[in-house]
Amino acid sequence: MAKRLLILGSTGSIGAQALDIVSRSEELEVVGLSAERSWETLVEQARAHGVSRIALVEVGAAARAAEAWVDGEVLSGADGLVQLVVDSGADLVLNALVGSAGLGPTVSALGEGIDLALANKESLVVGGELVTALAEATGARLIPVDSEHSALHQLIAGEEAGGGIGVARVGTVERLVLTASGGPFRGRSREELREVTPEQALAHPTWNMGGKITIDSATLMNKGLELIEAHHLFGFPYERVDVVVHPQSIVHGLVVLCDGATLAHMGYPDMRVPIAYALHYPERVELPVPALDLAELGSLTFERVDEEAFSCLALARAAASAGGTAPCILNAANEVAVHAFLAGRLPFLGIAAVIDETLEQLGSSPVHSFDSLYEADREARHVAEDAVLAHA
Ligand SMILES: NC(=O)c1ccc[n+]([C@@H]2O[C@H](COP(=O)([O-])OP(=O)(O)OC[C@H]3O[C@@H](n4cnc5c(N)ncnc54)[C@H](OP(=O)(O)O)[C@@H]3O)[C@@H](O)[C@H]2O)c1
Repeated sequence: MAKRLLILGSTGSIGAQALDIVSRSEELEVVGLSAERSWETLVEQARAHGVSRIALVEVGAAARAAEAWVDGEVLSGADGLVQLVVDSGADLVLNALVGSAGLGPTVSALGEGIDLALANKESLVVGGELVTALAEATGARLIPVDSEHSALHQLIAGEEAGGGIGVARVGTVERLVLTASGGPFRGRSREELREVTPEQALAHPTWNMGGKITIDSATLMNKGLELIEAHHLFGFPYERVDVVVHPQSIVHGLVVLCDGATLAHMGYPDMRVPIAYALHYPERVELPVPALDLAELGSLTFERVDEEAFSCLALARAAASAGGTAPCILNAANEVAVHAFLAGRLPFLGIAAVIDETLEQLGSSPVHSFDSLYEADREARHVAEDAVLAHA
């Protein structure tokens, strides 16, 4: 029987690639799709994949979709998105939303005990402890889609003697290593980053992704978010998760073992590989992706992160160590700052400055419930908007 799949954020970069994988497989059946406002694309996707239920968070877009598409049901608003998840009867939910808006659907899917293929790293950054506790309580599996975490998931699985992923035998795996391409501004000094434009920041050298994550890659905040994601997914303390810059994006992740061996996961940068892994897990399927030709590549290089020029990684490490609401505040301030940078309201270096000031002003409080996270997110956005004005 086919696996019933619900794709949230199907009109985005990850969502569209997931549908490409679905169209190559008899094993996957799409039972629902969602977007924020891109209703025309969403309706087209629903028609192409024979889907009868969709959700649009933007209410006006949902109304237009309902007018244009009479063959199925259109749910509307944030509540509609939750309803889509809860009533889906899905075996697997792919959360490919961008930003902390992904937390609600993550909680809904895991709360229902539905396995979750997670591209939306922000869910784990914002609510890591509560999200992983919820998954454990309901028995739902969290399968990473991020290429680095997919690599680590596969490497750790190879080191496990039974047991589930997320309980890597710490005695065997000593350290996790996340690779970073370094983004379009690798090698530049802080001074040289002062005048960079959104167009330059959006021109990523190795990955073709949505706008927000592309800017996060340029600031290296993406690696900071991934550090927090890795900590929660694999239960590793922060001091045992390293980041190394690897401009070719061929090695996606490494695990350092207790006997001096280091295992690497390699492949050409193509998100369809980790997406297909997550959608078909624990099976593997063929993909039209070329096998790695190392002789053709010639050489792979690695370097340390320049944390002075790219201070977002250090900010993420600090927020991660502070714990509580600090990672949630970091994420919210980053979303506000990236949005302002893309809109031409904030210089590139202003992104780190806004995050720093927001964290400084709000500090960290204990997290008692998802509501305390939603409140911290709201407050941080408010403070960050003021900081954007100060740094414009
Ligand atoms: N792209 C990659 O290669 C890549 C790689 C690794 C990890 N990721 C992670 O995967 C996630 C998705 O990234 P992406 O690059 O695919 O993003 P994207 O291209 O911007 O797509 C985002 C999707 O989410 C929907 N959406 C946006 N805001 C929403 C909101 N507030 N409520 C509900 N739906 C909303 C969008 O709908 P509309 O079309 O209507 O705007 C779209 O379908 C991010 O967390 C990112 O960090 C991405």
